[in-house]
Amino acid sequence: MLAIIGGSGLTQLSNLDISRREVIRTPYGEPSGAVTFGRIGCQDVVFLARHGHGHTIPPHLVNYRANIWALARGAGAEGIVSVASVGGIRSDLGPGVLVAPDQIIDYTWGRHTTYHEGPDVPVVHIDFTEPYDGALRRRLLDAAALAGETIVDGAVYATTQGPRLETAAEINRLEQDGAHIVGMTGMPEACLARELEVPYAAICVVANWGAGRGDSAHAISFAAIEEVLQQSLGKARRVIEHLCGA
Ligand code: HPA
Repeated sequence: MLAIIGGSGLTQLSNLDISRREVIRTPYGEPSGAVTFGRIGCQDVVFLARHGHGHTIPPHLVNYRANIWALARGAGAEGIVSVASVGGIRSDLGPGVLVAPDQIIDYTWGRHTTYHEGPDVPVVHIDFTEPYDGALRRRLLDAAALAGETIVDGAVYATTQGPRLETAAEINRLEQDGAHIVGMTGMPEACLARELEVPYAAICVVANWGAGRGDSAHAISFAAIEEVLQQSLGKARRVIEHLCGA
């Protein structure tokens, strides 16, 4: 079973041959919504819309613990692929580009980043040197090659708190820190998956230039983001199809 978490613009997987929907209860509260079970090609898939079906849950209010638990423990997923839109910072990562990041810098705050907290719960530290699963990343890159889609292999994903976009100065700072793309949901998803020992990797779709860059020099156009996502999420879908052997 492979889990797909769909981000902004991907509230359903049109290529999923749906068998059922299920509301999964978790010890950590409600996930973002019901999960959809089905098949793509020869692969069993479970899909969850990160921001809810009506896109009503902002990044800082997503119940990441419930989502990852529901997929890994509730649905029994053996891998989780996140599809997420991001802003581009590095000069070759402009709108429409697909990226499989290999590193993360976490700027979020106030989110539950561990399953191991609470009275009498022993502290657990995980190794997070490589935040994404190497084998699942490889499978994503191979699937992209098979699909004939170009995907950039490796980037540093900065996770900001949102839901507002960044200032131009913040994007400059992120670049100085070594970040190449910026999104709002990569953490704590990745570290929670690691805690549950489920391989996790991401396909990021660059929706816009980061604030102050390129055509976002003076403002970020939401209409332009919509247009880019419409076109580029199709590429991400094709990569997922090939990942599933369709
Ligand atoms: N910043 C943060 N998250 C994003 C952006 C951005 O510019 N674009 C899409 N998600």
